[in-house]
Amino acid sequence: MTDNAATTGQAAMTDKAATKGKVLVTYGTTNGSTAEIAEAVAGVLGKAGLTAEALPARSVTSLAPYDAVVVGGGLYAGRWHKDARRFVRRHRRELAARPVWFFSSGPLDASAAERDIPPVRGVHRAMIQLDVRGHVTFGGRLEEGAKGRVARMILRSGKGGDFRDFTAIEKWAAQIAGDLARG
Ligand SMILES: Cc1cc2nc3c(=O)[nH]c(=O)nc-3n(C[C@H](O)[C@H](O)[C@H](O)COP(=O)(O)O)c2cc1C
Repeated sequence: MTDNAATTGQAAMTDKAATKGKVLVTYGTTNGSTAEIAEAVAGVLGKAGLTAEALPARSVTSLAPYDAVVVGGGLYAGRWHKDARRFVRRHRRELAARPVWFFSSGPLDASAAERDIPPVRGVHRAMIQLDVRGHVTFGGRLEEGAKGRVARMILRSGKGGDFRDFTAIEKWAAQIAGDLARG
């Protein structure tokens, strides 16, 4: 092998190593709680040496730059946020070819911290179709200033609050990093 060939080979390997760990953490959100969870996940993946980007699902046009994808949706009336649903529909072929994890941000009570809450039906179906590696329901958040009439009604009835557990979120993200490191 000439010096040149060795250098080229090395460059190719470096490129591969760099792209091998590029993870998209994408989300559908109305009031920002799911976005914050996605950012926390991306932060942990970044600290673990991966390249991670947290982006709104409606802004992503291609999965070509990414080796793995985490998709999260806020729960609304028993369904994932529409941006997360549309994202999965639009990119199903690319998702099926990559390691994928899902998460949901939902209940406005402590139940997510007390037990595993299974994915809602549509999310469960997508998990089977795409062979998704895992799903967790983290608690939700609803606070003053939230959009929508129903949101304001819930707040008036005193049922708002922040039920997200960032320790659990970070632990889950670290497991994803470990899984990706193992290949
Ligand atoms: C109108 C409305 C409907 C909701 N429906 C559900 C639901 O069906 N299941 C659930 O677990 N949480 C439900 N929630 C709680 C939200 O999922 C929670 O606030 C979540 O964190 C919102 O995410 P976002 O801030 O990213 O939009 C609802 C909240 C609102 C305002």
